[in-house]
Amino acid sequence: MTDAGRNAEIAPEELLRLDLANLPVPIRRPDGSDGRTAERPEDDFRAALTGIGRRRAEGELAFLDLVHDRDLVEEVKRTADRRSYKDVIVFGIGGSALGTRALRDAILGPAWNADARNRRGLPRLHVVDNPDPDTVGSLLARVDPAKTLYNVVSKSGRTTETLALYLTATESIARALGSRATADRLVFTTSPDSGPLRRIARDEGIATFSIPTGVGGRFSALSAVGILPLALAGADIDALLDGAAQMAERCRKTSLTRNPAGRLAVSLVRAERISGRRIVVFMPYGDRLTACGRFFQQLWAESLGKRPDRGPTPLAASGPADQHSLLQLLADGPADKVVVFLEAGGRTKPLQVPDRQVGIPELARLAGRSLHDILAIERRATAQALARSGCPNATVALAAPDERSLGAFLMLVQLATVMAAELYGVDPFGQPGVEGTKALVARYLEG
Ligand code: PA5
Repeated sequence: MTDAGRNAEIAPEELLRLDLANLPVPIRRPDGSDGRTAERPEDDFRAALTGIGRRRAEGELAFLDLVHDRDLVEEVKRTADRRSYKDVIVFGIGGSALGTRALRDAILGPAWNADARNRRGLPRLHVVDNPDPDTVGSLLARVDPAKTLYNVVSKSGRTTETLALYLTATESIARALGSRATADRLVFTTSPDSGPLRRIARDEGIATFSIPTGVGGRFSALSAVGILPLALAGADIDALLDGAAQMAERCRKTSLTRNPAGRLAVSLVRAERISGRRIVVFMPYGDRLTACGRFFQQLWAESLGKRPDRGPTPLAASGPADQHSLLQLLADGPADKVVVFLEAGGRTKPLQVPDRQVGIPELARLAGRSLHDILAIERRATAQALARSGCPNATVALAAPDERSLGAFLMLVQLATVMAAELYGVDPFGQPGVEGTKALVARYLEG
């Protein structure tokens, strides 16, 4: 059985393990030679590291500094300790929402908002990105504005969807509590010095947290963007940032075999370059991790989708459900895909399948298994079956779906993105291709 066949039983202090045994371009074969190409992965890795060093020196990698921002952590904790709510609503979109949702679901659990017993008096945490009238109307009508914090998150402070949500929420607070009370219910997370939200905050005395100037949306989950809502819902943000800091340290290693971000980036870029595998299917197993797929998809798409002649197409999937949707295509369809699985060990509440109707083989084999076992077995079987049918795959295994491992995961994929950008020859920051739509939306809104 390859490493990819094993369950994710990894030591908690390791936080995260990367298994590339089923990729077609192994970093290193057992005999010490490289993969199936004359080009050396180490050369790609060195190029990526050089690029990272240059960007860091030019101050472009400010997201790396977030893990050491003790002042911010203390301020966030003070805010979380001082205030108590029944509901926290985050309004944001893209990079201003996806990281927070991924962290919420993984760390707090996908049933957090529905399960009052599990929450033990802590607030529900809603992350609203789409200005959809049904969802937003229903949520605003359900919450008590006097016991709700509305956290408006926008780096630019000018994103149409988020501003529409802000105005709609403000109206609902004012209707319930009077206009004078709205400022007290709001917190803005935005640019330190520019944009409409910053201006409104100054004029109306609304509390704010800053997103550092050099930190772009999809690299901002470990700033106040993610840690404020998570802290308000009781998550351990010290552990989150500590896990991220540990991964950043591991990813400074100059040996490819010991650098997880380097291994992930180099393998995926080479899978495309060497075998034309340009579609990266990111497939977490279990509902806790599903939102990590959307996070990865946005990070990889907006950062690397910059040239018509190269670059990956990320696709978020969800296992085991998508075994009954995408797996046929992955196994026998066009040979243009690589799959990255994400799984987590160390579940705290295993749910055992009871020994019932053991006379029926299909049920008997389930008896005594936990649902967590079944998820892990399904992932393992899928990875092996895909490898056998020629579809390369990798697995990111988290020690547990907890703060430390999630911090490590976010840092891993952010650094891998910057390294992959270096290898594709694109700028990972900015999203010029989105501007055309933004301009048209503004024009149509102006009538
Ligand atoms: O990753 C990004 O930079 C984007 O997805 C932004 O987060 C998104 O467009 C929202 O922008 P803003 O935070 O300025 O509202």
